[in-house]
Amino acid sequence: MVQLASTDLREEILALKEERNAVILAHNYQIGPIQDIADYVGDSLGLSFRARETEAEVIAFCGVHFMAETAKIINPQKTVVLPDKDAGCSLEESCPVDELDAFLKENVEKNYYVISYINSSAGVKALSDVICTSGNAVKIVESAPEDRPILFVPDQNLGEWVAAQTGRKMDFWQGNCYVHVEFTRDSISRIKGEYPGAPVVAHPECTTAVRLLADEVCSTEKMVNFCREQTADNIIVVTEAGMLHRLQKEVPGKNLIPGPTDRCACSECRYMKMNTMEKLYSCLDKLEPEITMDEELRKRAEAPILRMLELSE
Ligand code: 13P
Ligand code: SF4
Repeated sequence: MVQLASTDLREEILALKEERNAVILAHNYQIGPIQDIADYVGDSLGLSFRARETEAEVIAFCGVHFMAETAKIINPQKTVVLPDKDAGCSLEESCPVDELDAFLKENVEKNYYVISYINSSAGVKALSDVICTSGNAVKIVESAPEDRPILFVPDQNLGEWVAAQTGRKMDFWQGNCYVHVEFTRDSISRIKGEYPGAPVVAHPECTTAVRLLADEVCSTEKMVNFCREQTADNIIVVTEAGMLHRLQKEVPGKNLIPGPTDRCACSECRYMKMNTMEKLYSCLDKLEPEITMDEELRKRAEAPILRMLELSE
């Protein structure tokens, strides 16, 4: 592993990026230095569009595995690297492809229309009719055929939120994000008590009890607009703590308060935090860990993602 002072490391990464003809895409939960060096920082939907559009030869994807995998699926000519190959996701883990496959076979007579959250493996995507993100879930569910029952996979909380928004009945896979279920009604009520009148914005992966305490429920990207529009000085942000870095840069002058859990002042995703500047340098240098996949699987996973992108444009 390279050992350089942080300013040198930043310069080294930028130089290597040019040499490789690479683009650095980063999710809103990445550590501050990675967000600051990235060409684009955003939510899963914005990152998917950027990954599809880029003309760079290499995509250094600073996020978790399913995000980099999605980039490879929709732009297979590119070399896609991820700083840490073990940067997974508890939602992806909650829905193993063989379990979903068995469930669909057992319930074949139902003829489910399967809507999978983007936080899922390529195998799960390949078994889906369409993909959604937190940024477009309402639109995607509204476009689902009326004559087929919906199976929403794998985030039960996002599914319940979108069902309430659209009035569509659906069956849910029992998965959740271990970061967002850490926020509780008590922990969010307590922080609201400390900052009376502060608006609350929460991610739809939070539980119903927490979402009911929020003034707005939305994707990480939409949180930026929500915070910009607020006149209040204090805003409570109930999502992974990395979001605060992006918000502090784009909405300066506000007191942005991370949503606390019952144990901590904020909640961090251990997977998102596996990526470091050193590992970013290394993946650009060695062009590994690289995302690769079987072409037949890639094609099957691509169709429902492209359907999502068409419906979101
Ligand atoms: P967004 O698409 O809203 O950024 O959410 C991704 C995610 O993993 C949230 O935990
Ligand atoms: Fe997955 Fe939750 Fe981490 Fe998002 S915050 S990547 S849903 S574990």
